[in-house]
Amino acid sequence: MNNIRHLLEPQDFSVKELGSLLELADSIVNAPEKYAEKCKGKILASLFYEPSTRTKFSFDAAMLRLGGQVIGFSDPNTSSTAKGETVADSAKTVSQYADIIVVRHPKEGTARLMSKHADCPVINAGDGGHQHPTQTLTDLLTIMHYKKRLTDLTIGVCGDLMFGRTIHSLVSCLSRFSNVKFVFISPDELKMPTYIKDSLNKLGISYYETDNLEHAIPDLDILYMSRVQRERFINEEEYMRLKDFFILTRDKLDTAKKDMIVMHPLPRVNEIATDVDDDPRAVYFNQVKFGMYVRMALILSLLRLDERSVLS
Ligand code: NCD
Repeated sequence: MNNIRHLLEPQDFSVKELGSLLELADSIVNAPEKYAEKCKGKILASLFYEPSTRTKFSFDAAMLRLGGQVIGFSDPNTSSTAKGETVADSAKTVSQYADIIVVRHPKEGTARLMSKHADCPVINAGDGGHQHPTQTLTDLLTIMHYKKRLTDLTIGVCGDLMFGRTIHSLVSCLSRFSNVKFVFISPDELKMPTYIKDSLNKLGISYYETDNLEHAIPDLDILYMSRVQRERFINEEEYMRLKDFFILTRDKLDTAKKDMIVMHPLPRVNEIATDVDDDPRAVYFNQVKFGMYVRMALILSLLRLDERSVLS
């Protein structure tokens, strides 16, 4: 394939490309049966070096619903990594069998490294505490569904802003849409990384930082909750101290806008009480379904199997 495109971070797609991808995803949501054979004869390799339920199943289900097939592993100890193979060699090898690769890895930058060696598109399904661009596509489709726009929004991101890769990808991506404001809600120890704040400052994007969820809620159009990322902590005591810093309970939504939405990439640990689930503003379980549809659109676009894909 000439001119192979990858998705390693949301910035790899232009705003125009993102728009057309979301349109394609929307048509799939409305008539999934039309796409049931589009990937017939194609193989997706899913290489999960780190645990996952949603993302792996979401990609697998997306490919199967497109009529394609899936190979891969979810435990690196059963792959040649256990024999000492480099990820570069694994990428080269797997791309001889598969048409597209999805990789999750605990180390930042691994997906990018693999993309340099693979002979097919590579999708980053999460690299350490760095980026998670397909969760962002999921989030964008969810926001479009409920808010009908990606502009003029005030978004509160709450929880582990330091290690939360879904948050890093979402904030970087939304910073390209006009009049989007951010409220960064975290304990002092888990603040948004400086490199992200620097890029917002450069773009003149408005944000403020707080550790007070209740104070922030009334202004928000979207509240994006996240769990404290236990696996990125060196010190378990520190994790135990911070893990329940924020718990969204139903009464805290009393001061929220009636049409605010509560999102979460899941898995949830303790940061959203289950009594919030029945509130019409809680959309995190619907978000999961949008994730599958947007991944169907992404696979079709990277494989150039849909005429509406505008990936150059
Ligand atoms: C997220 C991840 O893996 O970063 N999960 C997901 O893909 N939906 C969020 C998390 O693990 O907290």
